[in-house]
Order: sequence, then C-alpha cells, then structure tokens
Amino acid sequence: KSVKNEKYRPTYHFTPKAGWMNDPNGMIFLDGTYHLFFQHNPDSTVWGPMHWGHATSTDLIHWEEQPIALFPDSLGTIFSGSAVIDKDNTAGFGKDALVAIFTHHNHKIENQKTGLHQYQSIAYSLDKGKSWTKYEGNPVLPNPGIWDFRDPKVMWHAESKQWVMTLATKQSITFYGSRNLKEWVKLSEFGNEVGAHGGVWECPDLLRFSTPDGEKWVLLVSINPGGPNTGSATQYFVGEFDGKTFTSNQHDIRWMDYGPDNYAGVTFSNTGDRHILMGWMSNWEYANTVPASTWRSGMTIARTLHLQQVNNDWYLVSIPITGTGSVEEIGDATLENGSLDLSKYIKGSNGAFELSFVVDQVAPFNIILGNEKGDELVLGFDQSNQQYYVDRSKSGNTNFNSAFIHRTVSPRISDHKTISYRLLVDHNSVEIFADGGISNLSNLFFVEQPFDVLNLKSLHPVGIKDLKVKIIK
Ligand code: FRU
Repeated sequence: KSVKNEKYRPTYHFTPKAGWMNDPNGMIFLDGTYHLFFQHNPDSTVWGPMHWGHATSTDLIHWEEQPIALFPDSLGTIFSGSAVIDKDNTAGFGKDALVAIFTHHNHKIENQKTGLHQYQSIAYSLDKGKSWTKYEGNPVLPNPGIWDFRDPKVMWHAESKQWVMTLATKQSITFYGSRNLKEWVKLSEFGNEVGAHGGVWECPDLLRFSTPDGEKWVLLVSINPGGPNTGSATQYFVGEFDGKTFTSNQHDIRWMDYGPDNYAGVTFSNTGDRHILMGWMSNWEYANTVPASTWRSGMTIARTLHLQQVNNDWYLVSIPITGTGSVEEIGDATLENGSLDLSKYIKGSNGAFELSFVVDQVAPFNIILGNEKGDELVLGFDQSNQQYYVDRSKSGNTNFNSAFIHRTVSPRISDHKTISYRLLVDHNSVEIFADGGISNLSNLFFVEQPFDVLNLKSLHPVGIKDLKVKIIK
C-alpha cells in the first residue's frame, strides 16, 4: 500500500511514478521523441535489482512514463548502458533497429569471487523501444577479469567504419571497437595517470565537437566517491580521438558540474551535432536515505553541451533547456537599499521557476529563497574566494545524512568582466549555470512547502541587467 505523499515532487524534472531510480540509460532521439531509459528498482524506494525503466518526451521537460523496458534475466540484473540506431543493419536485427548495449550484473557469489560479475550484453527493439528482445548470444563482451567493468556508451565512428564503445574499467576507460555490435575488440585504454581518482570510474561518454580551433573530443567520466563537494561527480577531459586512442594534454581536473547532485550524466544518441546531457540528480553518499515517500530520485534538467575557450584552454559549457514558459522580463534593475524583492514574480509557481540576470561587474551578491515555515536557501557569489555557492543548511530537512553537506561551492572559471547567472528552482532542487554555464552547481534540498519568497541582495552598488523570471509548468 503506498501512501500518497507528493510533497517533494518536482514539476519539470523527470521522476519515476513509484520506486527507485538512478542513472539515465539508453537515451536516444527517435522521430521527434526523446527516449529516456533509467536504472530502476520498481519494487522498492532503495537501490536493488536493476531494470531499465522508460519514459518519453517531445520537449525534454514533460515526460510520460512507459512500461519497463528491460527486466533482469538469468545472466544478471540490467546495469547502465546506451542505445543506438543501427541504420545499416550491421547487427542483422533489422534495418533501423534500436539496439541497447548494457551491462549485465550477476550477483552470484562464484562470479564475484572470480571478478567476472559484470559483462556487456545487447537487446534490440523493432517498434521504437516499446518491446525488446535480448540477443541470444549474450554476453557480447565477456569480462576479462576486471572487477568494475561496466556502463558501455556506444557511438558510430564513420572514419574508421566501426562502432566505438567507451567503457568504465575500474579507474580507467577502455575503448572497444566493433563492426556489428556483437563482436568487440579492445582498442586502447585511457586515464590511469590523469584525472581524479578518488573513487571508481563510471558512466563515461565520448563526444565530438567542432571548434574554430578544429575538431576536439571530450571524454566525460563520472567518479564515485571523490567529487569536489563530496561523493559523486562528473569530470571531463578535452582531447583528441583518432578512432582508436583518446589523448589529452589536460593536466588539471575539470568538473562538468561542481554540485553534489548531478551524476552519471551522458548524452542522447542520434541528435546530430547537438550534445544533450541529462544526469541523475543525487549522490551515492546519501541517495538511498533522502526524504522520500513512494518514489526516490529525479533527473537533472537536460542541458546542451558546448566548448568555450578561456585563456587558451577549452572548457565544457552546459546550457539548460527550460522550454517555453511564461517569461516576465523585468529588464534592468538597481538594488534599492541593497535588496530587490522578486517574490511577486514566482507567485503560484509551486516553486518551479527560472531566474536569470547579468551582474554588470564581478561583485558579490546573494539570493535568498524562503517560505512561511522559515526554511531558507541562500546562494550567490563569494567575491573573496571567487566562488559560486549554495548554502542549504536551513533548507528544511537537512540532517538525514551527515554526507549531505550544507555548503557547496564551484570556482569561477570565466574571465569575463560581468557575471551571467541562471538559476533553476523546482520544488526541491536548484541548478545554477554561471558565466554562461562554465561554472555549474546542482543541489537537492528538502522543503515540505515550496519556496515562494525570492530576494536578490548585494551590499555592493551593482547594476543588474536582463533580469527575467520564467515560470515553468
Ligand atoms: C552509477 C552506477 C553504474 C551502474 C549503475 C548501477 O551510478 O553505479 O556504474 O551501472 O549505477 O545501478
């Protein structure tokens, strides 16, 4: 019997109707519809035997949950993976077959002893993801003896005429190649000597960008733990890929999102030159214990990814897709007595809105969200440390897990003379995209009553430009 309690349910972020969810899987764009599959335990609100749940959307904001796509079988439960359209029928399942490539995870003790408990398998759909058939020859990539061997992300590499699989292998990434999705050969390995290694590497993705500087490749790698604000986070490497080997001259560690609540993010397949990413909006440190009722966890907002140059280095930029809500253009504003009350603009929004503005200089500011209960979320720019921050220490239920750290920060990377700032609030989450999406900070919080008080403050005499509030329904 489920108790109906929707108090933490967001408006424009995907959440499962019931049960547990983690990573986005198999995301693909097909005939005008975005398909999201996801790590799902339908029978409980904590992690357990993994299935692939399924949801569809035409705008990446409103989602419709579909029947479960993949169930555990005799080879194991269904861990994370990707999906491709096999336009040329390389696998022989049919022209334009939708093929899912995923990790089978086998709990059997004997497999765990030999370290062979994870291997890659495939399944196909000939009806746009409605029904799936697992390939009888599974697994297609057996385990070579590596304990963590999972999360295949597959793309077609036209120049070398092969499918390339980017796979997380303990604390490195191994690339495999295949002509038919069924037989895979190892191409190369990357990452043992570079990057953050505070935890296991998971859910990688390999992306190609064209820039004025020529072609660049970005390798996304989620790591857990070892993130900049404790626990789970996604780092990235900018480099080159020649169909066999990924190389990078990058020496520093870069995070796609510094916030604690954006993990295992990968991009949709079949979107052409557009790279659209969604992540899981939680953190393994506390995901299983966050306040919940009959469902647990949501996805982040979808974001397009781009490369931008700062001081001759390329950085990943995330731009959220927030759709066509009703936008209130407030224009330019000055902070009278250091404060501007914007509460009237978010009236009736059920705590689901976007606030954006430009500060005409690099100066400190605070945003304070509040409600009748006295809950408060404070965020803004800390000038002396050159950091964006979120302080969730008074934001309702904050003491369910000591790893739910109260103040999270992101360094400022941009060298612009002004600050552009986008803030997405959706009942129990806040996603910040600062300086055009170079410094990002996604955070969960748990208030029982949505925020309806919104104040912008600065003790510095700053000018605010292009102030906008958008209600997202
Ligand atoms: C990442 C992850 C993946 C794995 C899945 C299991 O969050 O640990 O590596 O495939 O979750 O649910």
